[in-house]
Amino acid sequence: MKVLITAGPTREPLDPVRYLTNRSSGKMGYALAAAFADAGHHVLLVSGPTDIDIPPGIDFVPVETASEMHDAVRRHLFRMDAAIFAAAVADYRPATVAGEKIKKSGEELVLKLVRNPDILGEARDKMNFEGILVGFAAETENLEANARDKLKRKRCDLIVANDVSKPGIGFDSDRNELLLVFPEHTAALPEDEKHHLARHLVKEVELLAATRSGAFQAP
Ligand code: C5P
Repeated sequence: MKVLITAGPTREPLDPVRYLTNRSSGKMGYALAAAFADAGHHVLLVSGPTDIDIPPGIDFVPVETASEMHDAVRRHLFRMDAAIFAAAVADYRPATVAGEKIKKSGEELVLKLVRNPDILGEARDKMNFEGILVGFAAETENLEANARDKLKRKRCDLIVANDVSKPGIGFDSDRNELLLVFPEHTAALPEDEKHHLARHLVKEVELLAATRSGAFQAP
């Protein structure tokens, strides 16, 4: 299969030296990229800034902002069999990016933010993607209900949900605990290393692709 994976945080500039970002390390997305490549699939990793080495044997597109990630996905998605959106994309970006470093003045500084494109949300409708579509849901409450709602709204085959309020797993950790939310059922993957969970997810995506095409698709 040809698999596109988004990973990492995005970085939304405010001025030449400042930006808004989030705590995503990119570890889950990179573990997925490595696991798909190890299983013999062709991987295109579209990644925001991380400290992780690029896994060997994959194609890599570095991006910074959500808009750049959006452009990269729009350019490549049409030729993919599966897409896994593991990036923690900023929902908002500063309305304007100052050309010079913003000087301090006054006691308050009010930032105006505008919405970023919802890349996963556009995959089916605007990008006409018909392959296997997997989204992630990082939640702090009502994990399954929120993930199931996302699955329907964004017309995904699978939402991989994790509770980011649990200490020791999720953001910036090597470990995670996942809830796999499919249209017809839900499966819990107990706490484990992200690399092991990634291997399990590869199998789930292979199964979804095989079920979709009526036969197992060779890598
Ligand atoms: O709705 P929410 O942002 O929680 O959805 C998370 C999922 O959507 C993740 O798979 C994330 O990669 C993707 N997403 C995206 N573009 C955005 C926001 C989220 O692709 N602007």
